[in-house]
Amino acid sequence: MSLLEVRDLTKRFGGLVAVDSLSFSVVAGETVSIIGPNGAGKTTVFNLITGFQRATSGEIVFDGMNLVGSRPHKIALAGVGRTFQVVKPLRGLSVFDNILVGAFARTGDREEARRIAEDVIEFTELARLRDALADGLPIGTRKRLELARSLATGPKLILLDEVMSGLNPTESREAIELIKRLRDERGISAVAGVEHVMQVVMSISDRVIVLNHGRKIAEGTPEEVTADREVISAYLGE
Ligand SMILES: Nc1ncnc2c1ncn2[C@@H]1O[C@H](COP(=O)(O)OP(=O)(O)OP(=O)(O)O)[C@@H](O)[C@H]1O
Ligand SMILES: [Mg+2]
Repeated sequence: MSLLEVRDLTKRFGGLVAVDSLSFSVVAGETVSIIGPNGAGKTTVFNLITGFQRATSGEIVFDGMNLVGSRPHKIALAGVGRTFQVVKPLRGLSVFDNILVGAFARTGDREEARRIAEDVIEFTELARLRDALADGLPIGTRKRLELARSLATGPKLILLDEVMSGLNPTESREAIELIKRLRDERGISAVAGVEHVMQVVMSISDRVIVLNHGRKIAEGTPEEVTADREVISAYLGE
């Protein structure tokens, strides 16, 4: 059974259709990438699923619960985590405390929250930076911290918006490793929004969905999608 089921999802901004009758599903434990050029609608899809924006029409069912119209904090509690394209760590707080804030979304118990944060800081390999302030961290580490904070909320599904953008090759490799471990070691489903077709990202995806002007133009395994003519023309022109 699907963990996430999106049906005929549409979002209009005035005359612009940012997401156009989009349907897809995510099975528990699966890593799906949504790829598409600039402005394709990837971030909007994530905003709709997490309740930051309201769908014009369509259905979003997560774990049997209809999410359309729910507030972001309720959706987070239901088990949908996210990271933002423009990362927003809590400035002035240490790496550990940033993760602790995530854990407190799951529990009001201080000891339990600390235990969760300790587990997550180890899992995300941020332990050596535990007392560092979030402000001064390089972009790759800030992105990792944001994933850690989201992970501490205990998601079943995590939406990763542009996880790879701005990362150097080493940081990209490390990010890919971490995303693989989300699935393989924790069984967490992920949907990764990716602007550019990158072989590395394709290699971690069980399935790839291609968006162009808000519409799904292809879906399949990474091999199927990269062989698709429409995909090639969306990226490279005719
Ligand atoms: N709040 C908004 N108001 C009006 N138009 C918007 C709004 N948010 C997004 N759009 C438009 O919707 C379309 C989809 O944008 P979106 O940010 O979802 O694309 P994206 O695939 O995430 O792009 P990028 O690769 O640049 O992150 C774009 O044309 C964008 O200009
Ligand atoms: Mg975006």
